[in-house]
Amino acid sequence: MSDSTGSPSTGTPPPGCPAHASAVPLGGLEYQQTPSQLYRTMRREHGAVAPVLLDGDIPAWLVLGYPEVSFVTSHDELFARDSRRWNQWPNIPEDWPLLPFVGYQPSVLFTEGQEHQRRAGVITQALEGVDQFELARECQSIAEQLITSFAGSGQAELMSAYAHALPARAVLWMCGMPQGSADTEQLVDDLRISLDAGEGDDPVAAYMRVGERIMQLVKEKRERPGPDVTSRMLLDPAGLSDEEIVQDLISVIAAAQQPTANWICNTLRLLLTDERFAINVSGGRVSVGDALNEVLWLDTPTQNFIGRWAARDTQLGGRLIREGDCLVLGLAAANTDPQIWPDAHVGAENSAHLSFSNGEHRCPYPAPLLADVMARTAVETLLERLPDLVLGIEMAELTWRPSIWMRGLTSLPVQFTPASR
Ligand code: HEM
Repeated sequence: MSDSTGSPSTGTPPPGCPAHASAVPLGGLEYQQTPSQLYRTMRREHGAVAPVLLDGDIPAWLVLGYPEVSFVTSHDELFARDSRRWNQWPNIPEDWPLLPFVGYQPSVLFTEGQEHQRRAGVITQALEGVDQFELARECQSIAEQLITSFAGSGQAELMSAYAHALPARAVLWMCGMPQGSADTEQLVDDLRISLDAGEGDDPVAAYMRVGERIMQLVKEKRERPGPDVTSRMLLDPAGLSDEEIVQDLISVIAAAQQPTANWICNTLRLLLTDERFAINVSGGRVSVGDALNEVLWLDTPTQNFIGRWAARDTQLGGRLIREGDCLVLGLAAANTDPQIWPDAHVGAENSAHLSFSNGEHRCPYPAPLLADVMARTAVETLLERLPDLVLGIEMAELTWRPSIWMRGLTSLPVQFTPASR
């Protein structure tokens, strides 16, 4: 495996490098508002693999085509996951905003080959042990508690009060943290700060506390194992070290919380704004399940995922990809690829979208099912408890978060008849 050094920066991009004149800066408001149209335009102008510029004008490739994303994700011998392969490291400043996602960490996310199979295998069997009925019961109980905290007021901001709060608590419960304890609440708060820092937050300090608390959890479960993900990882015959388990547990928790929260939020937005759903959600033609699936096709939480790094010079979508080039998986673009939807009708009843990616590093098999249990229970419980829920602002006033990576709203204000319980 090559290391982080790659080729030195000469200021002139080598042939085939995405840093040529027509590279598209990945950013700007337009991406947040109607990304699917934009991806189609980019695809028309640049083909299925577009040269793009990340923050600080760092060159990369955005893979926009459904067959091309499928090819990249299913050929990890060509498009590998260890970011130390990147040929741009000499140009990356220490405070580069994407470092938390791209900087190598010794977790399952960046491992390759047999080592990845070992680490991902442990996670998969630990997640397979989660009883989906029990998870649904737990999510319902968490949902009830959260709703009770705002039900009496007749209004709420659902992003923070509900959509983010529910999966964070549910995932920690799966990992064996006791529900409702001050300790768990502190960890929920630290997770929020480290994954999604607000004004005045210190994400680095919060991330340190998350690491310390997860290490403590691992020690507790070594001494007293229980029916939870952490204990199953510890007891797995693969014999992962405590440090490896801490790294991978943090990866699981972070990988689960953000996309599931935005899946809940984007589904609620669809239900509250689209007339096919708005009239009568519980009795209408289109079910909550349909709305959840439509969001994965059209407003998927993980819009773009960084990434893969070319293991050697190769071709993709008519482009020459150099060893060490970075490829961003354009999952949202692939889902709406005009080649698979020639009549522009997207949103089939099937689940052949790439929202959970594909191949060796895809979202590990039981995880999408667990995400579905969390999201479905969250949406259904809310609509049952507050049946006359409506948007608290005009639909046009809803704003998307300024991120090309994760699609979700900045806030989702709602109103309803105050409920006493
Ligand atoms: C709507 C919910 C979710 C979405 C959209 C989603 C999507 C994704 C995507 C796009 C990846 C990257 C795959 C790649 O590198 O090709 C991923 C990886 C991962 N996801 Fe999910 N995910 C969701 C929920 C969850 C949940 C609930 C869990 C755990 C309980 C989870 C655990 C993981 C893990 C551990 C990885 C890393 C896999 C690896 O690198 O081997 N995800 N997910």
